[in-house]
This record gives sequence, C-alpha cells and structure tokens, in this order.
Amino acid sequence: MTLILSAKNIHMAYCGVKPVEVIKDLSLEVFKGETIAITGKSGSGKSTLLNILGTLENPTSGKVTLCGYDTQGSASSALRNKHIGFIFQSFHLLDDFSLLDNVLMPAKIGRKQVSTTSESYKRALFLLEEVGLAEQIHCPTKILSGGEKQRACLARALCNDPDLIFADEPTGNLDSVNTELVASLLINTAKQNQKTLILVTHDEDLAKMCDKTFHLKDGFLHRIR
Ligand SMILES: Nc1ncnc2c1ncn2[C@@H]1O[C@H](COP(=O)(O)OP(=O)(O)O)[C@@H](O)[C@H]1O
Ligand SMILES: [Mg+2]
Repeated sequence: MTLILSAKNIHMAYCGVKPVEVIKDLSLEVFKGETIAITGKSGSGKSTLLNILGTLENPTSGKVTLCGYDTQGSASSALRNKHIGFIFQSFHLLDDFSLLDNVLMPAKIGRKQVSTTSESYKRALFLLEEVGLAEQIHCPTKILSGGEKQRACLARALCNDPDLIFADEPTGNLDSVNTELVASLLINTAKQNQKTLILVTHDEDLAKMCDKTFHLKDGFLHRIR
C-alpha cells in the first residue's frame, strides 16, 4: 500500500475576538485508492480539517505530507494543482465564466494546453457529459441550479486527473436524484481509477459507500467504521 497523505499532530486554533481551538491533536494516514468519509456536527471543524489536509490552510502546528512532499513552503500550490481536485462546500465557481472555462480552470492554472484538440479540453467535455451537463457547456455558471453547480464542481475537480479528491459536503445542497448521481460518480470515479477520496458528509448512505468513516469531535478524530 502506498501512503499518499500523512497528517501528523495537527493543531489548529483561530485567534479572533473569541479564540477557538478547532483541532487539538490529529494524525491521519491515507493510502492510495482509499475512500474516506469524515462526519461531525456543524462547526466541529470538518471544513477546516479538509482545507488543512488539502494544503489550502496551514495548521497552527503539525505537518502534512502529500505524495511524499512536505507541503509547507512555496511548492505547495503547484503540488496542489497537480495532485488535488477540490469540491468546495460553497462551489467557488467563477459566475461570469462558462461552465467549460470553469472546468478547464485547473488545467489553465497548471499551464496545460487547453486548445480544442488538447487532452484537457477533451477530458473536460467528457466529464461534463458524464455529469449530465453537455448541453450547458457555454452557459455562464451563474445561471445554473444548485445541483448543476455541484455537478460542475465535480467535473472541475476531476479535470486535472488528480490523485486525491477532496469533497466538502458534495451532496449537501442536492435533491435525492442529484445526491445519488453525484455520490455514485464520485465513488465510482475513485474506485475505478484508484483515486483517493476524502469527503465530508452528513449523509450516512454516502459515508457507508466509503472504505472508512471518521468522526470529528472536540478537536479529535475518531475512527467509527
Ligand atoms: N477563518 C476563520 N477564522 C476564524 N474562525 C474560523 C475560521 N474558519 C472557521 N472558523 C471557526 O472554526 C470552527 C470550525 O469551522 P468549520 O471548519 O467551518 O466547521 P464545519 O465545517 O464542521 O461546520 C467554527 O467555530 C468556525 O467559526
Ligand atoms: Mg463545513
């Protein structure tokens, strides 16, 4: 088994008007191809943890190693772009840009070719078809429904063919039909392509589709399945 992500003794505190110690002492090892669900109450620190594991936020102390690289320092954004796909809780789509442009954004940031004959372009079209959005590729994302935005985010997360996919409540805003579609696409993509998936969810059915489930409570992570 190949270790793809390791977090050691992570501590995270926010020092605002009312300081909060969100993560107290957390260590986690994730192997290539594993699918992992993280559950926990609202405000328990799930998004914070996902951001730290995905190297978007630095912890107050502790260390995250991604694909064998120490993630602190200037190489982290290139490393992230190459190895990680994100599905954010609040989408973070560029509203005035087309669906296709949004899905191609990780490839553009990674300075890949995105002309109509490029691999990235073909992959973006394929992914948009997979998520059922082939008809809307030239629409600005601001006109999409919540379910369509979520599916667009899934396509964008997979565009660079990342080794690791992070998904923050990927079915949080969806009706049951879209929940099933996004859940099975995520899990199947991960399983069929040996991708590592770490997702945060309230949905027990989705958690059960993953290999392991962890529960975040009072700043500590407990394995519950
Ligand atoms: N950037 C920030 N600055 C200050 N406090 C924050 C910040 N981000 C999150 N928090 C606080 O950290 C706690 C955990 O938030 P979050 O990780 O979003 O929880 P969850 O995703 O489980 O709902 C909350 O109390 C939240 O207010
Ligand atoms: Mg959250």
